[in-house]
This record gives sequence, structure tokens and C-alpha cells, in this order.
Amino acid sequence: MGSSFGKNISLSIFGESHGPSIGLVLEGLPAGFRPDWRLVDAFLQRRAPGRGELATPRREADSIEILSGVKEGVLCGTPFAAIIRNTNVRREDYQRLNDIPRPGHSDYTSWVKYGPAAERSGGGHASGRLTAPLCLAGALCLQILAEQGIAVGSHIERIGQAEDRRFSPLQVNPADFAALLSRPLPVLDEAAGDEMAWQIAAAAAAGDSLGGVVECAVTGLPAGLGDPIFDGMENRISQLIFAIPAVKGVEFGNGFAAAGLTGSANNDDFIIAAGQIRTAANRHGGILGGITSGMPLIFRAAFKPTPSIAKEQGSVSLSRREQVRLQVEGRHDPCIVPRALPCVEAAAAIAVYDAWLEQKKYL
Ligand SMILES: Cc1cc2nc3c(=O)[nH]c(=O)nc-3n(C[C@H](O)[C@H](O)[C@H](O)COP(=O)(O)O)c2cc1C
Repeated sequence: MGSSFGKNISLSIFGESHGPSIGLVLEGLPAGFRPDWRLVDAFLQRRAPGRGELATPRREADSIEILSGVKEGVLCGTPFAAIIRNTNVRREDYQRLNDIPRPGHSDYTSWVKYGPAAERSGGGHASGRLTAPLCLAGALCLQILAEQGIAVGSHIERIGQAEDRRFSPLQVNPADFAALLSRPLPVLDEAAGDEMAWQIAAAAAAGDSLGGVVECAVTGLPAGLGDPIFDGMENRISQLIFAIPAVKGVEFGNGFAAAGLTGSANNDDFIIAAGQIRTAANRHGGILGGITSGMPLIFRAAFKPTPSIAKEQGSVSLSRREQVRLQVEGRHDPCIVPRALPCVEAAAAIAVYDAWLEQKKYL
């Protein structure tokens, strides 16, 4: 099972949505570093379920219990291990789904792969709940990177048909990241946020769900992180972004739009600005040849609509091998995107921290 990540760190995530707890083991953190644990908690709360009208009513405290790697609030440099207990479990919501897989969810494929013994309630190990430990790892990496002047932030670029403007790719300002957090939905244009909230509410009222796009930026990166071929920054970030359930696409810089341009329209001229080599535009999204260019690193992640919806859908009975109609019950997010932003930031921070440790070997 591929639940581990890292070349210079080692991150392992374990647990199931409706098991006793979920958690992580993370190796490669610096001894002597004192995380701000209130910031760690605040980061986890951005993802936690049951916050706000647009999220699932399943409420979880998502408070962490540290088992190893911390002494008197300071990282020891030994494996950091922590758990987050699942306190609001309702297995009965999923009894029928053990035989009738939800369209769009992992129920069918995990039944094929692991058989009837697998814990599949609430999506089991494939559940969005497993992004809580990912966020915990990310929260620690973010603070270590902040000491190097590296910041990560994101906003909702799209939900359904409602669109926010994009980050200005040359001038992403980390001060804007904090401002985004004070809004009901983290968007650059508040009117777009109102429209998104309305669209989510309308989809939920219709027993349906919506997807969307998260745009993420990493600022303060030195040029030179990442490697060509398999360990490029796109590879590393994508590997972690696709660990977030419901992500179906990632694009860097101009992404798919670059495919429709000429070279002269897509290339970014090099310039000297304040004595530094920069680029005049940032269509390359801060990565060339898998290696950071020193410009802001910008990427977008596309999320599909939440698969569990109240509207009736077609499925099959696995035991009877016949087609049936299914109406999914239980507590589900009508749109995953608002809760997914810290997951995207965490994924980016873990990938960058891993690449930054690699680069340190050569400095
Ligand atoms: C933060 C978060 C919350 C999620 N909440 C739900 C949910 O309430 N109901 C649901 O059906 N899927 C939810 N998902 C998505 C499913 O876990 C995901 O679609 C499923 O595991 C199948 O994986 P795939 O979409 O990547 O193929 C959530 C995902 C994330 C990241």
C-alpha cells in the first residue's frame, strides 16, 4: 500500500475514517525546532469537518495527541508520531454501502482490491478524513519553511460556474494569504465568494454536489530546488496533491492553456531586476526543467464534485450481482473545495520541505 512519501523526509499516514484514530509518523524534522502549536491547531481547524454551513455536519474536534518526537513542546529530531481520534463515528450510515458501492467513490475499487475484510465505512483509508494527518505534517513543514522566508497560500479559484480572479503570478504577496483566511470563503474577489456560497447551497438543496479549483502559490523559494526527470518539483508536488481524495487534475503555471500558445507567446523573457535574474512574466509557474526558477511557484488543483449525494443514482449489489438504485445517506460535504485548501497547502509545503532538505546537501 502506498501510504508513505519522501526522499529526505519519511511520512507515513495510517488509519480509517471510522476506525479508532488516524495518524502519522514523520521523520526528518529538525531537532530543537519549537513549533507554534496554536498555529498547528488553527491550520487543522481550517480542514476540520462540521465548521460552517457549507460543510458536512460530521463534527470532529481534530485535536492531536503526540506520541513521540516532542519534548516540552520542542521537536526532538526523532520520529514524530501523532494520532487524531475519530470521535463522531456512525458506521450504520455505511452498512448498505458495504454491498452497494457509491458511484464516484472508492467503495467498489477497494472491495475489488482488498475484499470484504477491508474497513470501508466512510471510505476507509481512502476517506477525505485521512487529509487531517497530511495537514498536521504540512503545518509543521510550513513553520520550518517560514523560517527560511518561504510561504504557502491558496484561494478558491472556482466552484461550479463561479470564478475568482487568479493570483498575480509575478507579485504574489504572502500578506494576502492571511487576508484570505478572514473571509467566509477564501477568495480574492469577495463577490465571487458570495456567488460560490450560493451555488454550493443550491446544489446541496437539490441533493447534489459541486467541484472546483484551488490555486496555490509558494513564495520566497530560492532558484535551484528540484531535479529533472523523476524528482522535479512538478513530480513531487503532484504526488502529494493526488494524495488528496477527489483531486482529478493539477496544472503548473499556464498549464493546459500553454498547449494552445506559440513559443513566443508562452516563453517568459529573462530580465535583470534589482540585480537579480528574474522573468518578465511567470507563465512557467516558477518551475523550468523540474527546478525552481526563483519566481513564485504557482499551481492549480481540480477537485471533482463530492461523490456521495442524496440524489438517486445507479449502482449494483455486489452480493446479488444485479443493478439497483441508490440514494446515499449520511453526512457529506456538498462541496469539498472549501475544506481542501489547507490540504493543498500542506501537500505543497511537504514537497517543498523535502526538496529543500535535498538542496541543503549541496550548499
Ligand atoms: C477534505 C475532504 C472531504 C471529503 N468529504 C467527502 C464526503 O463528505 N463525501 C464523499 O463522498 N467524499 C468526500 N471526499 C472525497 C472522497 O474521499 C473521494 O472522492 C473518494 O475517496 C474517491 O477518491 P477519488 O475521488 O480521488 O477517486 C472528501 C475529500 C476531501 C479531500
